Amino acid sequence: MDIPEHVGIIMDGNGRWAQKQDLPRRAGHKKGVEVLKKIVKESSRLKIPCLTVYAFSTENWNRPSREVKFLMKLFHRTLQREVNELDDNNVKVKIIGRRANLPDYLLDEIKQAEGQTADNTGLNLNIAFNYGGRAEIVDAVNEIIKDTQDHISDISPELIGDHLYNPDFQEVEFLIRTGGEMRVSNFMLWEIAYAELYITDKYWPAFQREDFRKALQNFSSRERRFGSLDESGDQ
Ligand code: IPE
Ligand code: IPE
Ligand code: MG
Repeated sequence: MDIPEHVGIIMDGNGRWAQKQDLPRRAGHKKGVEVLKKIVKESSRLKIPCLTVYAFSTENWNRPSREVKFLMKLFHRTLQREVNELDDNNVKVKIIGRRANLPDYLLDEIKQAEGQTADNTGLNLNIAFNYGGRAEIVDAVNEIIKDTQDHISDISPELIGDHLYNPDFQEVEFLIRTGGEMRVSNFMLWEIAYAELYITDKYWPAFQREDFRKALQNFSSRERRFGSLDESGDQ
C-alpha cells in the first residue's frame, strides 16, 4: 500500500451521530475522542509520517457558548490524560492554530504536551485547534513582515510555506472528511492544494480502523498527475 506522507482529517459528524441516537451532542464529541485515539494508533502502526486532525475551527466560536466551553474542557482533559501514552508511543504532538482567545489552563496543557513530546521521532500528530486556513496564511505573512521589517522584496511560495504553523509538513497528500459534507470548511487551505480528497458519509464517532484502511487503500489506487500527463498522454 502506498502510504501518504501527510494525512489530514476533518473529523465531522459528532453531533449528528449523537442526535441520531437521542444522546446529547456532547456524547458525540466524547466518542469522537475514542475514535481519534484508535486512528492515531493505526497511523503509527502504518508508519504514516504526519497526521493533522481538525478539532476546533476559528468558526466554531459561533456555536452556543455551552458547547464551546465543553469542547475547550474536553480538549484539555484529553491532552492531560493522553500525553503520557502518546509520549510512550513516540508521537510528537503539535497544536496548530491561533493561541489568542484560548483559556490559560488550556495554553499551559498545550505547552506541556508539546514540550514533553518534542524530541519524539515517530508519528507527527498536529491537532488543529482554533485553526483556520486563512488565519494560518495571514499569520505566516505577518511573521514574514515582522522578520524582515520593511525590507521585503519578494514573497515566494517557499517563504510562505516556511512560516506555516508546521513548516516541516507543508503538503497534505490525502484529505479525509467524515460526515458527508462536500466542503473543506477552512482546513489547511495552503497545504491541500494538491491533496487527494476522500469524503465518507460515516459520522466521525462511527469511523473505524477498517474505514481508515479502506480510505488509505483508495488513496493508493489514485493516479496523481500534478497537472502533467499520464504515461499514455503523449500518444
Ligand atoms: C465535528 O462534529 C466536531 C467539531 C466541529 C468540534 P460536529 O460538532 O460538527 O458535528 P455535526 O457536524 O454537527 O454533526
Ligand atoms: C469542521 O466542521 C470543523 C471541525 C471538524 C473541527 P464544522 O461542522 O464546523 O464545519 P461546517 O460548519 O459543516 O462547515
Ligand atoms: Mg459539523
